[in-house]
Amino acid sequence: MDYSKHKIFETNSVLLLVGILIMVSIGGLVEILPLYWLKSTVEKVQGMRPYTPLELAGRNIYVREGCYLCHSQMIRSLRDEVERYGHYSLAAESMYDHPFQWGSKRTGPDLARVGGKYSDEWHVLHLKDPRAVVPESIMPGYPWLAKRPLDAGSLSDHLATLKTIGDPYTEEMVKAASADIAAQVDPDSDGVDALQKRYPKVVVRQFDGDPTFVSEMDALVAYLQMLGTLVDFATFDASGPNLR
Ligand code: HEC
Repeated sequence: MDYSKHKIFETNSVLLLVGILIMVSIGGLVEILPLYWLKSTVEKVQGMRPYTPLELAGRNIYVREGCYLCHSQMIRSLRDEVERYGHYSLAAESMYDHPFQWGSKRTGPDLARVGGKYSDEWHVLHLKDPRAVVPESIMPGYPWLAKRPLDAGSLSDHLATLKTIGDPYTEEMVKAASADIAAQVDPDSDGVDALQKRYPKVVVRQFDGDPTFVSEMDALVAYLQMLGTLVDFATFDASGPNLR
């Protein structure tokens, strides 16, 4: 083989640098340019809807308390994960998360499909004092959540902000935020029908068991109980029919 041409680069560091830059640019363009022609990198999946105001408030508390430091919300497509946690996470399942809560470390289990796994009562006991239900737990307790009234007033602003970045909230949903929060914790309220129309599959319950006021615990448990429940995996087929 004749290596003399390569020698030009090996003996001239500036030329080598220019050569590297050209090669790296080509690699970069091949990766980046196609993204400009793709309509979306997230395939839409039936069942996904934006968070109800109460769930969104719970998500804000999840972020505020740093739950993501110990919990991931991203089930990888590996057999051990799928057997333990359920169907692997779809990109669409985090499409209304700003920012996403995939996490980076699992001190505790993945929570992407924790919705419906336990009763509300279990969650309340566990969040107040994890060792009351899981004696070997190292999770900290969050007993104040049940005592703190939820700041529901700011949620319509949050919905309006998410609307500006493309989440499909309507004016009506933004205006009804406070009413929807009150309706989601009160199965007897008149607002439940409207709430269910706006947010299909919404779970309406007295989440923390205390009907006297809407607490931060209500919001966090409502959020945990809906995680991973929107897409129906009994009928989901990754090859296409459920995508729209
Ligand atoms: C210091 C790490 C740590 C933090 C912070 C933490 N957790 Fe945990 N979590 C754990 C561990 C460890 C477990 C497993 C033992 C247990 O069930 O308590 C767990 C379990 C759980 C479970 C049960 C999951 C299952 O499938 O059994 C839920 C739900 C949960 N945590 C929610 C939360 C929420 C909500 C927050 C924030 C308010 C939070 N955790 C903060 C470590 C943590």
